[in-house]
Amino acid sequence: MTDNRNAEAAWTYHQATKHSYTSIRINPHFMDWSNQPLPFKIYPTLELMRLPGALRQTGVAALSAISESVPAHTNASPDLEAVAQLLYLSAGITRKRNYPGGELYFRAAASTGALYEVELYLVCGGLANLDAGVYHFAPAEFGLRKLRAGDDCGVLLEATGGEPAIAHAPLIIVCTCTYWRNAWKYQDRTYRHFGWDNGTLLANLLAAAAALGLPARVVCGFLDTSVNRLLDVDPQREVAFSLVALGHVAALPPPSLAEIPPLGLETVPLSQREVDYPLMREMHAASSLDSPEEVQAWRGYTSKMDLPPPAGTTLQLQPLSDAEMPRDPLEQVIRRRGSTRKFARSPITLPQLSTLLERASRGVPADFLDPPGTQLNDLYLIVNSVEGLPPGAYVFHRSRGLLECLKQGNFRADAGYLGLQQELSADAAVAIFFLADLRPILRGLGNRGYRAVQLEAGILGGKLYLAAYAQRLGATGLTFFDDDVTRFFSPHAQGKSAIFLVAIGHSARQKPG
Ligand SMILES: Cc1cc2nc3c(=O)[nH]c(=O)nc-3n(C[C@H](O)[C@H](O)[C@H](O)COP(=O)(O)O)c2cc1C
Repeated sequence: MTDNRNAEAAWTYHQATKHSYTSIRINPHFMDWSNQPLPFKIYPTLELMRLPGALRQTGVAALSAISESVPAHTNASPDLEAVAQLLYLSAGITRKRNYPGGELYFRAAASTGALYEVELYLVCGGLANLDAGVYHFAPAEFGLRKLRAGDDCGVLLEATGGEPAIAHAPLIIVCTCTYWRNAWKYQDRTYRHFGWDNGTLLANLLAAAAALGLPARVVCGFLDTSVNRLLDVDPQREVAFSLVALGHVAALPPPSLAEIPPLGLETVPLSQREVDYPLMREMHAASSLDSPEEVQAWRGYTSKMDLPPPAGTTLQLQPLSDAEMPRDPLEQVIRRRGSTRKFARSPITLPQLSTLLERASRGVPADFLDPPGTQLNDLYLIVNSVEGLPPGAYVFHRSRGLLECLKQGNFRADAGYLGLQQELSADAAVAIFFLADLRPILRGLGNRGYRAVQLEAGILGGKLYLAAYAQRLGATGLTFFDDDVTRFFSPHAQGKSAIFLVAIGHSARQKPG
């Protein structure tokens, strides 16, 4: 088994999956529509338990929900209705569209290619109106299927090396990722997408938890084999990627059984045939943790990383005051969200941009971010059209609440090129690139730091989506030409790796204002 601490595997994977002008032109891959994977995991032999359909409204403003979290020791336990809200707002079906080949289901959070490779499982002790058990969430039917009866939270407590948030959580959501469902289109690059798509979903889930008054913590340090075994997934196809501890109760779960029996449950094949991409499975194995001691040591890493102090012209952010802040509730904003397909070339304002950046970057409660409030990704911007801010390239100093200008000028053409030559990033008011200094991250967190850095990017990107839609702006995630992005923001970004891109502006379909 490859050691997580020998982080060459993650470095190699990242280098091997870079996009460049040439790489996308010489790739002969095409999407085989006759072998398109099913968008849902189906257990044909298990009975469905429908979730309550009429969802309670929290009424909490989206811009508050994405930026606040409930203190860790607040006693709170979700009931079945709250469980339904959490699931709907993070992974529920919010829109359907007909196309010549059938129906396309769009979900609460953005996902690359609308392929939705992230599955959700619940592991809970007894909750109000929900028996203790392990359940799979079926978004198409908006229901649960019970995989195991009884309280198995102790298995996750052991698997996370005694993580305190897991110890006291009445509900744990396990997110898994299915290779083929996304690799059908994106091939080897799918492992990056695991972090992105799991992350956007978690942005919604964390916001929903905050709106419901539930403490929440993202946990990436766990024994992979134990968690996969508990869910009884085939780890060659589907793997646990993140856990979220939700709520807090004083009692600890019962100790886990020595052996978790296999279930051997039937599932419907995703496609007639699946193409294997071994590079991703190697990346996953190399970032797996093998003992509770290794998990504990992994969690203890301090990821304090600050940008060098600004050397160029700076501009203080001017976020909207609480009184000016749009108060559209989280439920409404999530239902309204969708990726913008065409941006109008009209400006957003500096207070809108400031609010986006400030609200989205107040910190993520995660076991790989210690002390709380640290961040692995740095945000670099191409400002195309923001009233009150000269067009140019900027870096965001989060701890200082300011933007440093790296170069002034009209870079619309560069923004379009860097976003894989898509008009979206050229037309948007601003393109926000996430870059990370991978070497020190991988030295500290090993190969698993690669999962963490992609996941964090997805969470921050998901929050930016919600912060945009809360202000009636549009947003879309985009992919990019890796090394060209670093080159564009260098020398400041020298040595960093491009991780994520989101473009924000006014949708061409909607009148500005
Ligand atoms: C990380 C990420 C990258 C994406 N990259 C692109 C892209 O390169 N081009 C594009 O048109 N859409 C891109 N999208 C948008 C997805 O296609 C979109 O989220 C998906 O079709 C679901 O639709 P919805 O977001 O409107 O619900 C991206 C989304 C995410 C989350």
